[in-house]
Amino acid sequence: MIQILDKTFVEYISRESIETQVSRVAQEINSDLAGEDVVFLAVLNGSFMFASDLMKKIKLDSEISFVKVQSYEGTNSTGEVSELIGLSGTLENKTVVVIEDIVDTGNTVKKINSILENSKVKSVKLCTLLFKPDAFKGDRKPDYIGFSIPNAFVVGYGLDYDQKGRNLDRIYQIKDN
Ligand code: IMP
Ligand code: MG
Repeated sequence: MIQILDKTFVEYISRESIETQVSRVAQEINSDLAGEDVVFLAVLNGSFMFASDLMKKIKLDSEISFVKVQSYEGTNSTGEVSELIGLSGTLENKTVVVIEDIVDTGNTVKKINSILENSKVKSVKLCTLLFKPDAFKGDRKPDYIGFSIPNAFVVGYGLDYDQKGRNLDRIYQIKDN
């Protein structure tokens, strides 16, 4: 067990298990996207560790950018507006693979998809280390999933609790009670 701020967490996914599933996901991407002009978009901050381990196993002749989703209030008629910051180079005609740490409600991924719809990409695939199917409210499930997990809070391997715990080399789940 570990303590982060006011919460206690227990080990949930081991280092070995992460390695196995990251390799499996990389193999799926390598075989599905062979011959495509691929750009990976790793969504900061949470995906940095997953993206780093995943990319070491990617054999495609590809590019990677680290991006952030920034949302702000538009005019009354436009409501909330989101943009991707950190893009280097055009995405036109590219096969884009979005790399996320976790897909929870799916709101973040929905924003990213709607931004990419307007950028003339060839296609968009979503790759996430963790997926919470019970929390998911979107209509398009991730294409590549490391682990489907129950709806309980997790930290480590890039994921934070109030910005702490990103450095942990495995994944911990919150201990209830
Ligand atoms: P969304 O609900 O799919 O839009 O996810 C929003 C963001 O919430 C994710 O990108 C994570 O940064 C964060 N998040 C969701 N669930 C967890 C969790 O269990 N641990 C840490 N961060 C989480
Ligand atoms: Mg995130």
